[in-house]
Amino acid sequence: MNKISKDIYYIGYIDWDLRSFHGYSTPKGSSYNSYLILDEKKVLVDAVKDYGFDEMLKRIKQVIDPSEIDYIIANHAEMDHSGSIFKLLDIAPKAVVVTNKFGQKHMRLQMHREAKWRIVDDGDELEIGKRKLTFMTAPMVHWPDNMAVYSDFDKVLFSNDAFGQHIASSVRFFDQVEGVIEEAAKYYANIVFPYGNAVLKLLKKIETLEIDLILTAHGFSYRTKKDIAKILKLYSKWASYKADNNVVIVYDSMWHSTEIIANSFSLTLDRNRIDYSVFNLAKTHISDVVTKLLDAKFILVGSPIMNTQILPTVSAFLTYLKGLKPQKRYGLTFGSYGWGPAGYKFLEGSLEQAKINLLDKGKYYQFSPTNKWLDETGNDVVKLIKDKF
Ligand code: FEO
Repeated sequence: MNKISKDIYYIGYIDWDLRSFHGYSTPKGSSYNSYLILDEKKVLVDAVKDYGFDEMLKRIKQVIDPSEIDYIIANHAEMDHSGSIFKLLDIAPKAVVVTNKFGQKHMRLQMHREAKWRIVDDGDELEIGKRKLTFMTAPMVHWPDNMAVYSDFDKVLFSNDAFGQHIASSVRFFDQVEGVIEEAAKYYANIVFPYGNAVLKLLKKIETLEIDLILTAHGFSYRTKKDIAKILKLYSKWASYKADNNVVIVYDSMWHSTEIIANSFSLTLDRNRIDYSVFNLAKTHISDVVTKLLDAKFILVGSPIMNTQILPTVSAFLTYLKGLKPQKRYGLTFGSYGWGPAGYKFLEGSLEQAKINLLDKGKYYQFSPTNKWLDETGNDVVKLIKDKF
């Protein structure tokens, strides 16, 4: 039995084997955290993926008979939280699904099933006995249907996607393990990066709440004042798109010329005491590159040209980046081409579509760059970067 606090139980599904969450690499797995509140009404907060249903059901049965459930709160219609709701309804027939109008619409479109619905809006309340649950809509803190729930009796915020991490663990709290911040950063960069304004609105809604516990829908939850303050401060920074004066160099190469340019840029940055990271897309997953971009103000993207196009690895990275749209970043493109540089229009255009401000025209060399070109170009790039400090 997994008791979180008085009357609140963990009934989620721990997905030890998950290695990709819609394209985001998850080498440590994940969890879909569900909670059961035992009050005069028996309330389930969020469910789990379809294939996690049996584990969730076993956990529920350790606490109550599932047919006693009165309400299932669906804070988010994405399938990792809603995929098992209708399986549960089959054995909890009196349960009412509490969600907002977008949640209802999205669940209907995904499951093609009906339920007893209770549709709530921002600020609506649900009395369940000693507790009053308050709903806070959080549109686009991942999907239009996201919301969070606050229990005044426990001072608990059920935050759903917000503040989560993709990690599988048998322990539930942030203070019980090391290295969670890095996973929270990776999660933010890969899931929440495009929705900074939405995150800021949610932070505003919760800033006056007294919070003793943030119970997330993924990974670890937060139970100390210090940890709660830490994650709220980081979310505020990330949602404001604040970044440090460091550089992400990301590239792929064919015959090493683009790699030589990347490495030469890195040594010039080194000489100028500017922090940087270098990623070869043939060896690093795109979700790890964008994690580094969470704190870096500059990105240099390099590719050779093959059959008038950039390399597919670089193209895939740019497609991902265009979705994430990291604001307040500066970028530059580079590479080595053979007989025609036409593909670089796509490279530069893609960075612009990702809302990255171009520092200058791309730096390209036909075939193998000379040391003189590398030195002069590296110095030019450093100057362009320093001008934006
Ligand atoms: Fe955890 Fe947006 O789903």
